[in-house]
Amino acid sequence: MTAESYVRFFPDALAVPRARQHVEKELRTWGLANLVDDDVLVVSELVTNSVTETVRWMRERECGVAGEGEDALIEAVFGRWSWPWTIAFAVYRFGSGAVVVEAWDCSRKPPIPVPKTDDWTLQGGRGLHIVDEVSKRWGYRWPRSGGKVVYAVLGRAER
Ligand SMILES: Nc1ncnc2c1ncn2[C@@H]1O[C@H](COP(=O)(O)OP(=O)(O)OP(=O)(O)O)[C@@H](O)[C@H]1O
Ligand SMILES: [Mg+2]
Repeated sequence: MTAESYVRFFPDALAVPRARQHVEKELRTWGLANLVDDDVLVVSELVTNSVTETVRWMRERECGVAGEGEDALIEAVFGRWSWPWTIAFAVYRFGSGAVVVEAWDCSRKPPIPVPKTDDWTLQGGRGLHIVDEVSKRWGYRWPRSGGKVVYAVLGRAER
């Protein structure tokens, strides 16, 4: 590996633009501005999924009691438990030229693409298909420290 860069966020809406800005800055510094457009898409989808999953996880584990609702959630995010309810984001550049982005969240639930369908009225289930289209490949792994990492290798696959 020749370069790496990490950043960590609260799982709120600002995580997505912050992650995008962070990776874009690194790519430009590395002379890889050509990857920025697709990278912005990939990062948006991965980080949005991590935010959604972290909040879902928090609701189930810590805020699952009916009636506690939003206040408990907000306290969990901004209050006394700031760790591990965060999202970590990393970008790596390898000697081979490969650039990999990774989003970490605390949940052990794997990201499983929703089967493709002709029903264009469906509200969700497109994010990982977009990632699949605009990256060389993507996947997930289980770090020993817990949670899960979803990664994508930037660049277009030959099809
Ligand atoms: N980081 C993650 N942790 C756990 N589950 C995930 C994660 N990312 C995705 N998933 C699961 O995979 C499913 C498909 O993700 P995908 O991004 O394709 O669709 P979506 O997030 O449901 O909708 P969209 O991205 O189109 O708004 C999600 O509904 C979720 O169940
Ligand atoms: Mg999604």
